[in-house]
Amino acid sequence: MGDINVTDKLNLQNSFKLYDEALGLIPGAILGIRRPYNFVQGEYPIFFRTAKGGKVIDVDDNEYYDYLCSYGPIIIGHREEEIDDAVIEQIKDHGFCFSLTQPVQNELGKVLRNLIPCAEKMVFMKMGSDATTAAVRVARAYTKRVKILKGPTYAGWHDWSSDVYGITAGIPEKIRNDTIEFEFNDLEHTEKLLKQHKDELAAVLMTPINTPGGDVVELPEPGYLKAMKELAHEHGAVFIFDEIRTGFRVNIGGAQKEFGVKPDLACFGKAMGNGYPISTLVGKAEIMNVLEHDVFLSSTFFPNSLSQVASLKTIEFLQKNNVIETIKSRGTILEKRIRESIETSGVPATYSGGSLMPYITFKRDEKKLYKSIREEFYRQLIRRRVFLQPYHHGYICYRHTEDDLDYTADMIDESLREAKKLM
Ligand SMILES: Cc1ncc(COP(=O)(O)O)c(C=O)c1O
Repeated sequence: MGDINVTDKLNLQNSFKLYDEALGLIPGAILGIRRPYNFVQGEYPIFFRTAKGGKVIDVDDNEYYDYLCSYGPIIIGHREEEIDDAVIEQIKDHGFCFSLTQPVQNELGKVLRNLIPCAEKMVFMKMGSDATTAAVRVARAYTKRVKILKGPTYAGWHDWSSDVYGITAGIPEKIRNDTIEFEFNDLEHTEKLLKQHKDELAAVLMTPINTPGGDVVELPEPGYLKAMKELAHEHGAVFIFDEIRTGFRVNIGGAQKEFGVKPDLACFGKAMGNGYPISTLVGKAEIMNVLEHDVFLSSTFFPNSLSQVASLKTIEFLQKNNVIETIKSRGTILEKRIRESIETSGVPATYSGGSLMPYITFKRDEKKLYKSIREEFYRQLIRRRVFLQPYHHGYICYRHTEDDLDYTADMIDESLREAKKLM
């Protein structure tokens, strides 16, 4: 694909046909963030057919470099044989959906305890939202308090956290009022809120890296996470890291290992199973132990072992192949090239996300020209078969080769130059 330089509009006929059909089946045709308005409408595919490694193929047979990586889970690559073989073996040799738990639960638990600094005890679930909601319930039970101070990053679709995009229908106001959002990297703001809600706060829950929808990715300032932990503890609140995005990406032990700040509880999901649905809440035994008797946590599918097997294999693969370091070093080169392209193109764009979460955003201007520039940039990019999202940072996976990233950097450069023509 390295020599492809097609810049024409893509043929997306089959995607559009399936979309029309889905409109009659699924309210809105597609759920949530995958809806066409989250991309450039009419330019992006709507349905994917298949994928392998770092590439995806849509239902019209267009092939793309996939830098969304399914919004995070794909850390190694799509259809990774070692992982899939382990899962198939589990299906064929053992089965995975039983009335009782299979021993792989303990194996995975021991691995996590060795890798993640705060993981004295853990519970396994399926979705990231399961883990963040469990964290909130555990913290509330432990502190016997109700309010949650939460960072600006999306933390799942459940009621306590779900006014992120300002869409609140169906969520009782009294529940929303118990979650208060603080500004990232702004200790003063947090301190003010803590004082205001003194003796009411069950938890401070935050992502260690700030990834607000549609806005620049923000790393924690030196000392910030440690100060947040101290503030939470001073006010009697449980300190929770939502590591759903950072877990198994920034470090094999999570962002808590990378930044050297151990939270009381932490949530992991996405990359821990390379695409298989699994999440976990881990943390200090004293706090986690409220799950023994006080807190109810159960689902028909939580103990299903397929994802636990996939997660064990994924973690083994990450360690054996030095995956995270490889992604970081390739990502650093990509970051450098994108920063150079932004500089030389003269487009008012910002690069953020460092080596792991590449994201190009456009500086707001009064005339709102940035919206057209943004649309043109992402239109040009998708036509060049680079799949990134205008309102969400990207990810790099292990199967993206240096050549892939080189091609991608070239296409980003070309697309920026095309977008510049609108200025
Ligand atoms: C930081 C963070 N927390 C929680 C969630 C919720 O995870 P899920 O979509 O698997 O329920 C997400 C999902 O994007 C997330 O990015």
